Amino acid sequence: MKIHFGVDYYPEHWPKKRWETDVQLMKEMGVQVVRMAEFSWFKMEPVQGEFHFEWLEEAIALLDRYGIKTILGTPTAAPPAWIIHKNPEIQPIDREGRRRFFGGRHHDCQSNPIYRAHIKQFVTAFAKRFADNPGVIGWQIDNELGNSHGELCMCASCRQLYQKWLQRKYGTIEALNQAWGTAFWSQGYNDFTQIGTPLITAAGENPSAMLDWKCYCSDLIVDFADWQAEIIREICPNHFITHNFMCFDNKVDYYDLAGLLDFVSNDIYPAGHWQKTPHQPESELAACHDVIRGYKKKPFWMMEQQSGMAGWEIMGRALEPGQMSAWAMQSVAHGADVVVFFRWRTCAMGTEQFWHGILGHSGKPGRIYNEAKKLIHTFTKYMEDFGGSMPSPQVAIVHSFRQNYALDIQPNHPQLRYIEHLQKYYKALYDKKIPVDFVQDMDDLSKYKLVIAPLQYLMTPELEQHYIDYVANGGHLILTMRTGVKDANNLCMTEIELPGRLGELCGIEVPEYDCLLEATGGVLYGKKEYEIQKWCDIIELKGASQIAEYSTGFYKQTPAITENKYGSGIAWYIGTEPGEELMEDIMTYISEVCEIETLGTAGNGVEMMTRESEDKVWLFVINHTNDEQVYHLHGRYTLLEGEREEMLKPYEVQLFVGNKHK
Ligand code: GLA
Ligand code: ZN
Repeated sequence: MKIHFGVDYYPEHWPKKRWETDVQLMKEMGVQVVRMAEFSWFKMEPVQGEFHFEWLEEAIALLDRYGIKTILGTPTAAPPAWIIHKNPEIQPIDREGRRRFFGGRHHDCQSNPIYRAHIKQFVTAFAKRFADNPGVIGWQIDNELGNSHGELCMCASCRQLYQKWLQRKYGTIEALNQAWGTAFWSQGYNDFTQIGTPLITAAGENPSAMLDWKCYCSDLIVDFADWQAEIIREICPNHFITHNFMCFDNKVDYYDLAGLLDFVSNDIYPAGHWQKTPHQPESELAACHDVIRGYKKKPFWMMEQQSGMAGWEIMGRALEPGQMSAWAMQSVAHGADVVVFFRWRTCAMGTEQFWHGILGHSGKPGRIYNEAKKLIHTFTKYMEDFGGSMPSPQVAIVHSFRQNYALDIQPNHPQLRYIEHLQKYYKALYDKKIPVDFVQDMDDLSKYKLVIAPLQYLMTPELEQHYIDYVANGGHLILTMRTGVKDANNLCMTEIELPGRLGELCGIEVPEYDCLLEATGGVLYGKKEYEIQKWCDIIELKGASQIAEYSTGFYKQTPAITENKYGSGIAWYIGTEPGEELMEDIMTYISEVCEIETLGTAGNGVEMMTRESEDKVWLFVINHTNDEQVYHLHGRYTLLEGEREEMLKPYEVQLFVGNKHK
C-alpha cells in the first residue's frame, strides 16, 4: 500500500518512555509516514563535529516496527547557538542595517560561505547516517524557504553575490545603468562594486533595481536548496527530495524551486491567521492547492495540514467538528496524494506551545484524534485508486512571480495586491463549480477554453506574441487593467499607448486612467449598475465592442469592459477591478460564451472538484459549512462515499466516481 496520511512528529519534545504510546496511537489512527528533525540541529550536533543521531535512529526504528516510514528534514532554518557564537557574522542584516539575532528561527544568511560550510558538514553526516536506514524514504530540504527572509539579507556576503548576479545578467555597467534608468536622481554607477543591497533610503527607491533584487533573492534561495539537494542526492540516490511551500508566498519563485524537487509539498493553515477570522475563505484555500499543483504540474503532498487550533501569542478559532476533515479532503480533491497533519502533539514549550495538533498537551486522544482516524479509515482505500491522477480544468489563470514582485514594489493603488486580485477571478469560477489551473504566462495555453491573465503589468514582445497567437488560434483570453505598462526591466513603455501591442488584440487603446484611491466607482452592465474598485482605465474603442460602461467619473458612459473578435478567438479587456457582483455576472457571461462546463450547482459553502485518470473521473463534493446543504450534479456519477446524494450533512465530504467521456 502506498502512503496517504501522516503527521509531523517531534519525539525530542517528549520523554523517550512516551514514544511507543505515540507510535501505537499513530498506528491505530492510520498514520503511514512522519516528518521529523527539521528543527533539531542542536540535538543532532550539540558540539561541532560531534554527531548524535542515536535518538533519531531509535525513533525511526520504533516507527518502522509499526510500519510507519520517515521523512527527514534538514534543520538549516535553525542553526544552533554554538554556530552563532562561533560565527556571529552568519546572522542576517535587515534593511535598516541591523543584525537579526539568535532566539527565534531563520537567523541565518543563505549566501554566507561560513554558514554553508557548517551546513555541508552537518548535512553530509546526516545523509550518510540515514542513507541505508530502512525506515527513511525521503528528505525535506530546510523548512518553508523564504519564510522570515523577506527583507533579508543585506550583509557583505549578500552584497558581493548580488553584484556578481548583476554582472552576469547585464555584462556591462552601461547596460545596467540603462536597464535601471539611473539617469534619474543621479543614480548612475561606474562599476558593479558600487552597487549595494537595498538598504533603507532617505526617500524612494528605484523600481528597476528593486525588481532585480527580488529576483536575485529568489535565485539565492533556489541555489541554496539546490546545493543542499545535491549533497543529499549523491549520498541517498534512493530517497526522494521535497520541500514544504507556502501556497502563494512569494519570497522565492516556486516554479524554479519546484524544478529541482521530486515533488512539491505544501503547508496550509486555514484558521492559522487570527487576523482572518474565523478562517481563510475556502475559495482562497482551493486556489492555493491549485497553484501548488501548477508549480510542477504534478500531484503534491501536504506536508503540514492544519489539525488543531493555531496560535503563537494569540490563538485562532477552534476547529469545528468535521472542519479539519473537510479541509484535508479539499487538499486531496485538488491534487494532494498525501496529507501530513501538523502536528502530532501540541508541545509544552517554546514559541509554538499554543499551535495545537492531533493530540492536545495532555497527549490523550480526543475529538480531533478520533476525527482524523475516521477520515483516514474512510478515504485511504479510495486514495489508492486515484493517487497520481490530476484535475483537468478548462480554465487557466496566469500566475507570475515577476508580476507579483513588480506590483509589490509599486502597487499603483494602495490596496491593490496581485494575489488578492487573482483570487477575485478565481472565486467567481470556484463559486460556479468550475475547476481552474494556474499556469505560467509562457506555458502552452492551447488546451484551455478560457485563459484569464490579470494584471499583465510587465510585458515583453514574446509574451505579447504568445497571447496574440493563442487568441488568433481560437483561444478566449481575458486581459485586465494595468496591462503592458512596463517592460521586463520595470521601465515604463513609451512606444505606443497602453496596453501596447495587446491593444491590437483587444481592439482598444488606453490613453488615460484613474486611480480610485479611497473611493469606489460604478459600471453599467446590462441594465444594472455595479460597484467597481481601485482603478479605471479610460478606454477608446479601436474595433472592439463595449460590453460595460462606467457610470461614474468624468469618463462616465465610456467603455469599462470590451470584447473583441480576433482571428478565431475572442479577447476581453476589463479596465477595472470588478466588485464581487460584477465579477460574478461578467464571468457567467464569459464562461457561457466559452462553453465552460460546470460540475454542478450548490450554495457557496459547497465545493466541487474532480481528479481524472485515463478512464475515470473522481468527483469530490465538500460541505464547508456547519449547515445541511443541497446540491445538484451535472453529469453521471456513482456515489462511493457519503450518506445521501444531493444532500450534505455539516462538513460532510462525498466522493463519486464516473466514467470519462472521450
Ligand atoms: C509553519 C512551519 C512549522 C510551524 C507552523 C506553525 O508552517 O513550517 O514549523 O511553525 O508553521 O506555526
Ligand atoms: Zn547575507
